[in-house]
Amino acid sequence: MLNVALPKGRLGEKIYKMLERAGYSCKELLDGSRKLVFTDENSGVSYFWVKPSDVTVYVEHGVADIGVAGKDTIDESGADVYELLDLNVGRCRMCVASVNGFREDLSRPLRVATKFPHIAERYFSARNRDIEVIKLYGSIELAPILGLSDVIVDIVETGTTLKENDMSVLEEIFPISARLIANKARYKFKGEEIAACVSRLKKEIAQ
Ligand code: PRP
Repeated sequence: MLNVALPKGRLGEKIYKMLERAGYSCKELLDGSRKLVFTDENSGVSYFWVKPSDVTVYVEHGVADIGVAGKDTIDESGADVYELLDLNVGRCRMCVASVNGFREDLSRPLRVATKFPHIAERYFSARNRDIEVIKLYGSIELAPILGLSDVIVDIVETGTTLKENDMSVLEEIFPISARLIANKARYKFKGEEIAACVSRLKKEIAQ
């Protein structure tokens, strides 16, 4: 039995459909119930719906053998897991952005609003730029508009949010997509099962 942590929401549903096509179907999964654990004996799989940012936690602790998480979540969490496959969905970019016409004051630390403090710290520290992180949980774009921060480090998908708020990307930090991750110990115990899943999924990935 493979235990799989899936991120709740639209991306998770898309990924489940990919897994279903790959042979890991579980009929009840998308029936709109509030259940969180779904097992299908025939497919040999057990799915857990978890909050997207918690997938790495379930996988790192081995409660789930594998899971699907965005590259943003994986990097921010610093989880000690294997990254097995780029699923080529959920594509977006981690960027530094600010209001149009922003001029950086190099005489003081840069104030960075973000949901991703570790990513922001790593990025700016590699550039020897002192920053003050302002941790927020949503609507990050508001911070530089209202003067709470100088810039943001955030996800840009279509760019609409930035555009509609007279903001633009200053730098791209890294591209993001959903990745299949695995618990390191489970990868040893269930090597064959996990490898089979990877190879079946590879055939389903939209190129
Ligand atoms: C994300 C992200 C940006 C927006 C980018 O926010 O933090 O705000 O999407 O998408 P776009 O480039 O297509 O406009 P989300 O919708 O997850 O909500 P949040 O503000 O609560 O984080």
